Amino acid sequence: MNNPTLDLIHRHASQRRYKPDAVPAALIEAVVAAAQCSSTSSNLQTYSVIAVTNAAKRERLATLCADQSFILEAPVFLAWVADLARLDRVCELRGCTQVTEHVESFLVAAVDCAIAAQTAALAAESLGLGICYVGSIRNNPQEVIDLLELPRHTFPIVGMSLGWPAKEAHTKPRLPLSAILHRETYQTNQDAALLEYDQSMAATGIYAGRQVPATGKSENMADYGWLEHSARRAARPVRAGMRAVLEKQGFELK
Ligand SMILES: Cc1cc2nc3c(=O)[nH]c(=O)nc-3n(C[C@H](O)[C@H](O)[C@H](O)COP(=O)(O)O)c2cc1C
Repeated sequence: MNNPTLDLIHRHASQRRYKPDAVPAALIEAVVAAAQCSSTSSNLQTYSVIAVTNAAKRERLATLCADQSFILEAPVFLAWVADLARLDRVCELRGCTQVTEHVESFLVAAVDCAIAAQTAALAAESLGLGICYVGSIRNNPQEVIDLLELPRHTFPIVGMSLGWPAKEAHTKPRLPLSAILHRETYQTNQDAALLEYDQSMAATGIYAGRQVPATGKSENMADYGWLEHSARRAARPVRAGMRAVLEKQGFELK
């Protein structure tokens, strides 16, 4: 099945090579205006996005976000932020106090933020721009909060580089639909789909020189596909200090 929207979605590939050409402010605004059309929990719109074009700031962000050079190469960095600060003001204007202490409050804002970011991604790609999400915006969350002057009750969820593609990015195969689409109840036996995907990812050659290190594990490329790569990644702790920064930003996560 296909139509222009599905074709655009299926052509998605993260872009990590950018031309230096600026993205006009009108295009950044078009991308964010599209993001604003996303569904949002109770129409609360609990997210914001900080558009960074300043080169020195992007250089700092590139360093903070795992030294990824494409962040500096891309002329725009969008920091997608879960935002309950705006509702603090709304409550103040109407003489009440926002309850933010539960996990659910943070989830509402984080989900809103991620949904809006993905709409922006598709809008950008429809305009011929390239994007790459930057999860490593959470590698040094306090430094990012300080750099972007994020107030209490906001938190950086994900970054996004934005710019004109300098090179064609290749689409990456996905898990077989049977692993993702469950009918009526969750199906736990997905091994056949996992093995099939392991082979199709290994065949792309993507892992050459990009293995996740693991002590005592074989570095034999023949054994190294999506299963080994993902298992090694999933077996490592990630960003273990996050809770303390969330609490400092006023998200108690009770
Ligand atoms: C939340 C999130 C965080 C990501 N963070 C990074 C990142 O820090 N650096 C990077 O190069 N790619 C990052 N990516 C891109 C993924 O690696 C990419 O989407 C995935 O490998 C699938 O490839 P594709 O987007 O080209 O289809 C991120 C993607 C998401 C959704």
